[in-house]
Amino acid sequence: MKKLIDSAIKASQNAYAPYSKYRVGAAILMKDGNIITGVNVENASYGLTNCAERSALFSAISQGYKKEDIEAMSIIAGEEVIGAPCGACRQVMYELVPKEAKLYLSNLKGEYEVSSTEKLLPGAFGPEDLDV
Ligand code: THU
Repeated sequence: MKKLIDSAIKASQNAYAPYSKYRVGAAILMKDGNIITGVNVENASYGLTNCAERSALFSAISQGYKKEDIEAMSIIAGEEVIGAPCGACRQVMYELVPKEAKLYLSNLKGEYEVSSTEKLLPGAFGPEDLDV
């Protein structure tokens, strides 16, 4: 768990955040032991920014991993404050991260809260809603 949080902290140094200066790092622990990271990547056309959580998850999927391969995920943002994942990322995590996976929401000091996709997005619209 500490290794996972440290990976997210290290990844956040790669954030491309020239506009907000708010560096976010995400790290996903796969069941095979691999850790996949992602950062926020901003754009002069602000709305095209990609958040760290989605960068990491899209990378994992691109590398061939499936939802059930995910063990845990760590997200870090502020120095002191534990950053809240945005609404879009909550929706994407609900889709791509298993309900049982622990989400470690941390700050740069390594302090953390444990959450889950269901806690972050109660009553979510998800794949099961399309089972008509
Ligand atoms: N950001 C993330 O990477 N993840 C979130 O869940 C919240 C926001 C990024 C987007 C933008 O680059 C910066 O933080 C400020 O909004």
